[in-house]
Amino acid sequence: MAGFVKAIGIYLCEFKSHTLRSFRSFSTTFKASDLVVEKCCRPNPKPDVKSLVFGKYFSDHMLVVRWNTEKGWTRPEIKPFQNLSLHPACSALHYSLELFEGMKAFRGIDNRIRLFRPMLNMQRMYRSAQRCCLPLFDMEELLECIRKLVEIDQDWVPHSTEASLYIRPTLIGTEPSLGVAKPNHALLYVIIGPVGPYFTTGAFNPVSLLADPRFVRAWKGGVGDCKMGGNYGPTIYVQNEAARLGCQQALWLYGPDHEITEVGTMNLFIYWKNTNGDMELVTPPLDGIILPGVTRQSLLDLARSWGEFSVQERKVTMSEFLTALKNGYVKEVFGSGTACVVCPVGRILYEGENYHIPTMENGPKLAKRFLKELTDIQYGRTHSEWTHLVI
Ligand SMILES: Cc1ncc(COP(=O)(O)O)c(C=O)c1O
Repeated sequence: MAGFVKAIGIYLCEFKSHTLRSFRSFSTTFKASDLVVEKCCRPNPKPDVKSLVFGKYFSDHMLVVRWNTEKGWTRPEIKPFQNLSLHPACSALHYSLELFEGMKAFRGIDNRIRLFRPMLNMQRMYRSAQRCCLPLFDMEELLECIRKLVEIDQDWVPHSTEASLYIRPTLIGTEPSLGVAKPNHALLYVIIGPVGPYFTTGAFNPVSLLADPRFVRAWKGGVGDCKMGGNYGPTIYVQNEAARLGCQQALWLYGPDHEITEVGTMNLFIYWKNTNGDMELVTPPLDGIILPGVTRQSLLDLARSWGEFSVQERKVTMSEFLTALKNGYVKEVFGSGTACVVCPVGRILYEGENYHIPTMENGPKLAKRFLKELTDIQYGRTHSEWTHLVI
């Protein structure tokens, strides 16, 4: 009996310590109130808004937080923008233990700076971290650290309603070992920099797409619904193939029936008359192979709030799409994403044939309406609960 009680006691102790350990590894977070700020001595000159190129310019500071299994997260630091020093065996470099986010800060017409639905980015980043076995964090705390970084570098937010400040939160495994295993070391950092308009000519230019079913972006059971670096590197080859065939981006197909999934690094929307003769906005469902875009969600929310046409998240195959196109039912096709908000599609090259998409001939009325609604919110022309004030 005494032995049994002792065994139960040991079991309970081990259970408690194991539970505490796992609880600790998932609950520890850094806190924005612990931020340590080291300002740079000499701020860099800001580039001219007209010369902005995506991802080329970076502000004076960055946010850095380190993590290891022993001690959890360090205090977050905002420090002068600088290179990283990584062990050559770093797990991010060998096994793509890397994830990121893409979001923007906008200087409004009232000179206040706003983030657009940033909690959706924080939630997506959290889900990517879970799937990548990278450490978790309190999303509100990360958002507040980002807000503080943008506040410190506020002069880098362009004074223009054509441009914005791009924010790139990144989380990498920094395990200094070649073992393919859950990392015991990680680094979260955020870099920011000004970016110009997606459509440089100022016009709403339609893009052409290569739809080649030999190339697959994501698959069921994979990580296409996470924003991991490993999803992007292999697409560059396909992007080059598209360019070689005179197209600008890839239209990603999936499965034997050539399901339409995404376009380039954007979600895809089709506005058409459906087989019941009703106007419908359709986008592929979040079934694991689609990245849950913040813009995608916003377009769906807006369209549903208008209640003017049917809004569907469902599978569309190439054959269904081409039949509708042949019958003159397709009105607009466009991509959606943080970079451009909406991007009209004008042509699809599929199985050796070019298909003209009449997006531009139809306005594009709906795409332009979405663009106006979202940019009005982002630049403070319309008040909305979707914005998060930086200053
Ligand atoms: C593959 C992919 N799909 C869709 C999107 C659009 O997402 P969001 O609207 O959050 O920018 C992105 C951009 O992040 C992407 O990389």
